[in-house]
Amino acid sequence: ARKIIIDTDPGQDDAVAILLALASPELDVLGISCVAGNVPLPLTSKNARIVCELAGRTDIKVYAGCDRPIARQLVTAEHVHGKTGLDGMDLPDPTMALQDQHSVDFIIETLRREASGSVTLVPIGPLTNIATAMERAPDIISRIQEIVLMGGAYFEVGNITPTAEFNIYVDPEAAKIVFGVGAPLTVMPLDVTHKALTTRARVEAFRALPGRVGPAVASWTDFFERFDKEKYGSEGAPLHDPCTIAYLLKPDLFSGRHINVEIETGSDLTLGMTVADWWRVTKRPANARFIGDLDADGFFALLIERLGRL
Ligand code: BDR
Ligand code: CA
Repeated sequence: ARKIIIDTDPGQDDAVAILLALASPELDVLGISCVAGNVPLPLTSKNARIVCELAGRTDIKVYAGCDRPIARQLVTAEHVHGKTGLDGMDLPDPTMALQDQHSVDFIIETLRREASGSVTLVPIGPLTNIATAMERAPDIISRIQEIVLMGGAYFEVGNITPTAEFNIYVDPEAAKIVFGVGAPLTVMPLDVTHKALTTRARVEAFRALPGRVGPAVASWTDFFERFDKEKYGSEGAPLHDPCTIAYLLKPDLFSGRHINVEIETGSDLTLGMTVADWWRVTKRPANARFIGDLDADGFFALLIERLGRL
């Protein structure tokens, strides 16, 4: 199985991504490293454990990491995810313990321990933990198999400011580091995640799954879709973060371009913008595979089939 570390700030869509990974034998989740983002760190690291317990996977190691961005104050998104970060169904407090080790140390230690080129990083929150690990231990960079992250936007511009997507906006300095190190990078921007939309039929398919997982996922997407319906008039909730895991499982569902993507860190107006050279109008070297489209029916078929296994 492909070894992955999920770096996350759950978040309902993070939670679905975690469940999809845990349900998939092709993936070996070495650990879940939490970061501050949608809600503060004590909540993201609690929510990650709630999700593992929901999946019956108390064996998964969950770590708490950076509690604020590298150079800025934390911006959170309770307006999208609710006070707990995981509003929807009331789930019991976790009984499994948080690991003592800091997320950043866990990431560094794991990349040094495992065979070089055998560990994939899946960041689905602000990039603070990942960038901090790279800065502290540059030797790990060449050992990363691939980074598959959710963040940024090009044609869809922004969701937290007119020009920035939340994960990149929260810690643009961290994003600049991650996009600049030269590691193989695949990016799921809003351009693709806004196409991974729940519809009534898809939500009802979640709800009809046997066990507790399906109804929990349906309650999360019901909660989560209010924001996007109001803001974008979209049909349902965009399942941003699960796109990363689905890509690892079925890359053929996705299409994109290998292009140059730079992160704006200087301008107040466009802070955190992913300046993506989609039309290749510069000579700047490609540093990312920037995904633009997906087969939404195939994506939801995969998700429903896998969640049904839990
Ligand atoms: C991203 O921001 C968060 O609110 C979601 O969990 C996702 O990772 C979408 O912009
Ligand atoms: Ca997230």
